[in-house]
Amino acid sequence: MKILMVCLGNICRSPLAEGIMKKKLPENFVVDSAGTISMHEGEHPDKRAIKTAANHNIDISKQKSRPITKEDFETFDKIYCMDKSVYQDVVSKARNDEERRKVSLFLDALGDDNNVEVPDPYWGGMSDFEDVFQLLDRGCEAVMNQILN
Ligand code: 4NP
Repeated sequence: MKILMVCLGNICRSPLAEGIMKKKLPENFVVDSAGTISMHEGEHPDKRAIKTAANHNIDISKQKSRPITKEDFETFDKIYCMDKSVYQDVVSKARNDEERRKVSLFLDALGDDNNVEVPDPYWGGMSDFEDVFQLLDRGCEAVMNQILN
């Protein structure tokens, strides 16, 4: 099974989601991440995201930002979007129903109406990154249970 995590810039939320998910899932799973914009293409994750992950013994420092591509819709089985606007953007890029069916809002797995979107911590501080990490960790746990059960 191949899983793609998607946010806007691919330097904060989806790199963290990728790192957390890789740690949780067995090695035969492929986990990658991408953004809907190419503004940060080739850059490593935001320093605050790297530090937050490192605080939880997860190394995301070697990841590099890339925009989502047409091929991703063929390669990946599941495409998880961090917020509604990313979801709308990704769904609009899908070319058919099969590709559209792969796309979902990441936190839907929680089944919790209060937590539907992963807030963007880019304009915040370290405590926002830690809050996002905790939310992503819960989301990854829920997604993992869906996938493995
Ligand atoms: P991300 O956060 O989507 O979680 O990677 C952002 C990163 C960069 C920008 C916005 C959000 N930006 O506007 O450059």
